[in-house]
Amino acid sequence: MFLTLFLGCVPALAQPRGAVIASCAACHGEDGIAREADVPHLAGQNEAYMLNQMANFRNGSRRHPEMRFIARDLGPQDIKDIITYYAALPAR
Ligand code: HEC
Repeated sequence: MFLTLFLGCVPALAQPRGAVIASCAACHGEDGIAREADVPHLAGQNEAYMLNQMANFRNGSRRHPEMRFIARDLGPQDIKDIITYYAALPAR
């Protein structure tokens, strides 16, 4: 419910599937602001940079067990959609 309202505020170009947002939001927040000290904020982060990081997590050149698993679980379109979504959110 909150998610639907929230998505209404996001520019039309970013339309990731709700399930994809949910799989990131547990750590990075629906608003891209992480709640845990060791998790980076994604809101307003550079899009090309984040896409590169996702590729690096996938191929293991950037090592992080959770992000590696998560990045490998998503298809390229889902990754692009969710990164576009986070990049468009206001940073804090
Ligand atoms: C279990 C918690 C968790 C989940 C779920 C999670 N992440 Fe992460 N993510 C992290 C942590 C922790 C890092 C920092 C990794 C490091 O220290 O190198 C990170 C790093 C990142 C980065 C790199 C940020 C930077 O500034 O370099 C991106 C991009 C990212 N995550 C995207 C996602 C996306 C997209 C999803 C959902 C598909 C997701 N994450 C789900 C914990 C998580």
